[in-house]
Amino acid sequence: MKVVVTGGLGFIGSHTVVELQNEGFEVVIIDNLSNASEKVLDGIYNITGQKPLFEKIDLREKSAVQHFFKKYHDVVGIIHFAASKAVGESVENPLLYYENNINTLVYLLQELTALPQANFIFSSSCTVYGQAEKMPITEDASVQPAMSPYGNTKQIGEEIIRDTAKVTNVNAVLLRYFNPIGAHASAEIGELPLGVPQNLVPFITQTAMGLREKLSVFGNDYPTPDGTCIRDYIHVVDLAKAHVIALQRLLNEQNVEKVETFNLGTGTGSSVLEVIHAFEKVSGQKLNYQIVGRREGDITSAYASTNKANTVLGWKAQLSLEEALASAWKWEQKIRS
Ligand code: WQD
Repeated sequence: MKVVVTGGLGFIGSHTVVELQNEGFEVVIIDNLSNASEKVLDGIYNITGQKPLFEKIDLREKSAVQHFFKKYHDVVGIIHFAASKAVGESVENPLLYYENNINTLVYLLQELTALPQANFIFSSSCTVYGQAEKMPITEDASVQPAMSPYGNTKQIGEEIIRDTAKVTNVNAVLLRYFNPIGAHASAEIGELPLGVPQNLVPFITQTAMGLREKLSVFGNDYPTPDGTCIRDYIHVVDLAKAHVIALQRLLNEQNVEKVETFNLGTGTGSSVLEVIHAFEKVSGQKLNYQIVGRREGDITSAYASTNKANTVLGWKAQLSLEEALASAWKWEQKIRS
């Protein structure tokens, strides 16, 4: 069975392609290479021995999307990762985010509804909850007004999918990720942030590698045990496996609603300082960091309730924070060697 993975050369996309191939799916990757390298195909091949089909397409070009689905009309579903995802950049350049994250979703769904099997897995984010009142965060926690155009595109994207599924053959699963980190154990694929990393873990590994002078910890005056923000850091391989399970659920028509939503996290919150200390333990290296002021837009705490994903989706994160950090460190050393 053939599956389309948009953004399949990206961080989460490439790990999901590997898990799809492990489950016997044939994969067609769509990527415009704006934030990924074609060399990732070799990494995937080195892991699974199968080279995915790859089409270099910019999903903002409606005609290119139409042409693609004329060629690949036998696909059984789409897993949609391709999107811009830098919160800060989205504030500076909202129209880039609305064009790249919304127009492309509309063009994909227009083609999907014409296929015999209209299964759609959407890459959403815990960012839709903003600062949730209650921890752990459940799927029925209220969706707060978005704190950034990026977060808004995820909220709007979910609504577009819900509205479309109501009146078409589309069945969808919305996966709200918490904080994806780590890399495949083989170190053949991993996170490749362009420029200065915005996210915590790649900044940590680049600092440990000597590429960055020191890590700035954005605030230690939050109402948390050690004053630093709490997040739910989930290994990207666990996250990838959840996508395959979600797709199989739709293919086997096990979904109880046309659109189902799941939080994907470990259920455990870790503070920035706890992540730093865990990294120092797994790497055997002291990390150079300093406490600075808060970062605009950061929320204090977010970690997932895993109950629905465990009981309904039948998925549970298996890998620990330490394993994720060790894999991220192994990957950083590999790409800099
Ligand atoms: C985590 C914690 C920072 C960098 C974002 C997006 C979210 C998703 C994941 C796309 C925070 C602190 C960070 C640094 C620091 N992306 N930090 N120094 O902000 O929770 O989530 O990335 O879907 O949508 O919002 O992740 O890794 O940026 O920050 O102290 O150099 O680490 O303050 O508390 P975040 P993050």
